[in-house]
Amino acid sequence: MNRTNIIAGNWKMNMTLDEGKALATEIVKQATDNGVKAIIAPPYYLLESVRQIIGNSKHVFLAAQNCHQEAAGAYTGEISVNMLKSVGVDYIIIGHSERRNYFDETNKMLTKKVNLALQAGLDVIFCCGESLTIREDNAHVQHVKRQLRESLFHLYENEFSRIVIAYEPIWAIGTGEVATPLQAQEMHAEIRKIVSNNYDDRIAQATTILYGGSCKPSNAEALFAKPDVDGGLIGGASLKAEDFLKLLEMRAAK
Ligand code: PGA
Repeated sequence: MNRTNIIAGNWKMNMTLDEGKALATEIVKQATDNGVKAIIAPPYYLLESVRQIIGNSKHVFLAAQNCHQEAAGAYTGEISVNMLKSVGVDYIIIGHSERRNYFDETNKMLTKKVNLALQAGLDVIFCCGESLTIREDNAHVQHVKRQLRESLFHLYENEFSRIVIAYEPIWAIGTGEVATPLQAQEMHAEIRKIVSNNYDDRIAQATTILYGGSCKPSNAEALFAKPDVDGGLIGGASLKAEDFLKLLEMRAAK
């Protein structure tokens, strides 16, 4: 099994210019080549500065938090995939639950974003996950299956191999309520099964699946110990260099 281990930090709408540069500098300075990819996803306006700070590091990578679903044109305030490519972004986070919920992003819109990103040569961190109501109705597996089917499963195998999946139960994002290691493992194994059924087992075994939702140094060890959890997409705990670096170390030690 040759999956990539990843710890990705989603800074969301945080960090001023100086704060962001200082945080990125600290991470790049201290992140070691320990076999885990560190990915930093700052707000758009910081991408170019963080790109320069990362330089040509072999283990720290740059992600955007979103992109627009059209290639170019009259979309005031939006950012295109080609703009992101031109500043040297490596990954784009697509389908974060905050985008789905606050900005009404549908599976269909996300398909367009995924296609544009892959066509431009950028890799994708694709987020999926259920709300509390859906989990209470025991419909979470079906829900995630639908998210994957409607936004990703049109891809050819070689395209799908450039997708990292982030499973982020909405009830655990920014709430302090983390999924139990068992809940995370169960869902990650289900996702791998869904991928296997749609492609094949070889592809499913090679797919990196990250857990996201209140993951931090105090609870990551048990999550990272689970066989189908390949790392984390980290919000709150990615805003402190010490915590983010600790998570990288913890993943490497697993
Ligand atoms: P959180 O966010 O770690 O602050 O819960 C995770 C995410 O939204 O990716």
